[in-house]
Amino acid sequence: MWGGRFSDKPAELMQAINVSIGFDKRLAAQDLAGSRAHAAMLRKAGVITSEDEAAIQGGLDAIAAEIEAGDFPFREEFEDIHMNVEARLRELIGPAAGRLHTARSRNDQVALDFRMWVRDACDRTIGQLRALQTALLSKAEAHADTLMPGFTHLQPAQPVTFGHHLMAYVEMFGRDAGRFADARARMNECPLGAAALAGSPFPIDREMTARALGFDRPTANSLDSVSDRDFALEALAAASLCGVHLSRLAEEIVVWTTPQFGFIRLSDAFTTGSSIMPQKKNPDAAELVRAKVGRLLGSFTQLTVVMKGLPLAYSKDMQEDKVPTFEAFDALELSLRAMAGMVADLEPVAPRMAQAAGAGFSTATDLADWLVRTLDMPFRDAHHVTGAAVKRAEQLGCDLADLPLAELQALSQGIGPDVYGVLTPQASAASRKSYGGTAPDQVRAQIKRWKEALA
Ligand code: ARG
Repeated sequence: MWGGRFSDKPAELMQAINVSIGFDKRLAAQDLAGSRAHAAMLRKAGVITSEDEAAIQGGLDAIAAEIEAGDFPFREEFEDIHMNVEARLRELIGPAAGRLHTARSRNDQVALDFRMWVRDACDRTIGQLRALQTALLSKAEAHADTLMPGFTHLQPAQPVTFGHHLMAYVEMFGRDAGRFADARARMNECPLGAAALAGSPFPIDREMTARALGFDRPTANSLDSVSDRDFALEALAAASLCGVHLSRLAEEIVVWTTPQFGFIRLSDAFTTGSSIMPQKKNPDAAELVRAKVGRLLGSFTQLTVVMKGLPLAYSKDMQEDKVPTFEAFDALELSLRAMAGMVADLEPVAPRMAQAAGAGFSTATDLADWLVRTLDMPFRDAHHVTGAAVKRAEQLGCDLADLPLAELQALSQGIGPDVYGVLTPQASAASRKSYGGTAPDQVRAQIKRWKEALA
């Protein structure tokens, strides 16, 4: 491609360190789309003839068909996807192929292709997040009344419902989808036409190519256009955060499936057995989802370090943008799909959860609140009386609800038998009717809102 300036072939090692076709072949569809739009624009601008444009478009169609059929010759000697396509085009249509690269550089070409790939990845990820949210929503709807313990410090805190707990993740994944949508909106400017770095002397129409490729507008600074990889970093940051959320749910699934918790059962489809211990049913899919955040955050770190301190405009360092980004989105998409499958299949063990919901004096706050409401006690005093009641129940080896009335009255005279009405986990959960609270009607209202938002 640049033989004029050179007399010798590159060293074998040069090719080995320089070559990117092994991974950037994943940009083939974006590369062809960019070339189609560029050729059409060059023709409209009068830079190439209709005959040349027709030959180029025909050749690009033939290349697309070859790639589709799996018989396109990806060749290392042509370094990357851009030069592989151009070399093949020359073989197919002859000299007209040499006009396609007018007013274009691989610098704006790769910036375009990669941006379109990341844009597609954001769209796919948003779709997968919606699918996961939908799976969580239907599980939450089926279990809006199913009691479970709510935890802080992983210690029993207050009863909640399983539906409420799952809806917390619907919120998290909703914010993740929002972050991908924000990143997508910001990246939706077309760098094509920035050429090598300074723009082009040809009468190119950047609005036309931007529109043809689904962008909102062309990028406004040619140097920035070829040197910006924020769009990928932003998507990787969103992916890392999404991975953090996935790992938290994955961890809960791992904990809930232990016999010690016994809160849920996973399907055979998302578990594995042991080659030695016949009793085992391991939550491998959840564990792997939990681990993938390492890859996601690693990719973000990798590309951040590549970009840090790079002078304007393009540097070959930036070729190192693709592998981490591809790896991250492969991992994220697999994780989202596996998590959606696990959530759809998992079944709560409701009696076990309900039993645990009442354990650990989880309705102590309800007793304190009752003292405040019924006896007009200051909350601090009520907290103290309730603490003493818990201590007494612990001594007697019983739950709060099983403390004899005389025991409670010894702590505060005014306590009457109606106090027992607030000491069950059902009553506790049902009483938390504040907006966003765990009362089943509140949970159902949030499910309804999300269903409408996702419809
Ligand atoms: N393969 C290169 C990359 O991925 C394409 C751009 C090459 N540009 C250049 N001036 N060498 O970044």
